[in-house]
Amino acid sequence: MKSFIFSTTKSIISEIGVISKIAELCHSLNILRPLIVTDQGIIDNGIMAPVINAFNNAQMQYWCFDKVVADPPESVVLEAVEYAKQSKIDGVIGFGGGSSLDTAKLVALLANSDESIADIYGVDNIKTKRLPLILIPTTAGTGSEVTPISIVTTGATTKTGVVSAELLPDIALLDASLTVSLPPHTTAATGMDAMVHAIEAFTSAIKKNPLSDMLAKSALDLLSQNILEATFNGENLEARQAMLLGSCLAGQAFANAPVGAVHAMAYPLGGQFHVAHGLSNALVLPHVMTFNKSHCADLYAELAAHIMPGKEVDNSSLQTAEQLIQFLHELIAKLQLPQSLAEIGIQKKHINSLANDALQQTRLLINNPKTVSLEDAKQIYLNALTGKHNG
Ligand SMILES: [Fe+2]
Repeated sequence: MKSFIFSTTKSIISEIGVISKIAELCHSLNILRPLIVTDQGIIDNGIMAPVINAFNNAQMQYWCFDKVVADPPESVVLEAVEYAKQSKIDGVIGFGGGSSLDTAKLVALLANSDESIADIYGVDNIKTKRLPLILIPTTAGTGSEVTPISIVTTGATTKTGVVSAELLPDIALLDASLTVSLPPHTTAATGMDAMVHAIEAFTSAIKKNPLSDMLAKSALDLLSQNILEATFNGENLEARQAMLLGSCLAGQAFANAPVGAVHAMAYPLGGQFHVAHGLSNALVLPHVMTFNKSHCADLYAELAAHIMPGKEVDNSSLQTAEQLIQFLHELIAKLQLPQSLAEIGIQKKHINSLANDALQQTRLLINNPKTVSLEDAKQIYLNALTGKHNG
């Protein structure tokens, strides 16, 4: 058996309404002066209210940094660290989407350390211990609560990552009551991101491992059975909780068997055109799978049973893989997400620049089951431009 390493969050609590116990959970980690790291939208939409109520009920003081923005720039992270140090907080709660959770991870570390942020960029460069950390996702998609990664925007369009097991929180809290107000479009797009995490982890070329495989399949069971219900009947707490758990399992899978060309080709859409991460993934997913199928048809066929159960197929792996790709194409349409790059204003003239950027994502491309050349990348974008695919 191939050797592997698997790391994950120590404690995961999956319970609808568990947010009411946040003060007790803080005490369990000896946090007396918690800092909540979040964004203004979360406050404005009242999503923070249950947290505030819980702290008020426990008569516990808390601090809040609400200036996180999407794709958080380094300056915002440093501002939060400064606030944390001045406030003498002794624990951090990340509350929100992937950007808030990523920022919270770095605040928990840098507020407890004299290390500069520049020292810790890259893989395993953290030398100190972080403060106690609780992560609470309010979208089901990124899986950030179980990944040892934090992504920071360090230039106009450049992003840099910090990767270290020290960024895994002490507790991840999965509470669907916090996600019910998420609009259909965001629910669909973030849910597709989670599905892509599971699919890409399962076909990951280098670190594929039995634990990630198991988690990816379970994640896809939950996500594919609940994504339409959670999107179009957002009040359904059971469906919402299944999506949160599915996203968490997919996060654990790809944290240990990293994602590949779908993400490599999605990132330039975010960087150059500010397309949301989940939607970027959905736009390129069928086209990258069509490109990959010659090299991993067996794996795609294995996943078909989890993504389209009941649709018994008695064909070759390649035919099953093609049916799966067609199924995902139709799922994206049913979710009412855009199906072509053209629909979101991208034109043929942009393809060279997108493909050049995608090829820079070597950290991701090495995980893809099939090598992607510049010409391949251009062809995949060209196919995604029209949304047509040939199974
Ligand atoms: Fe992703």
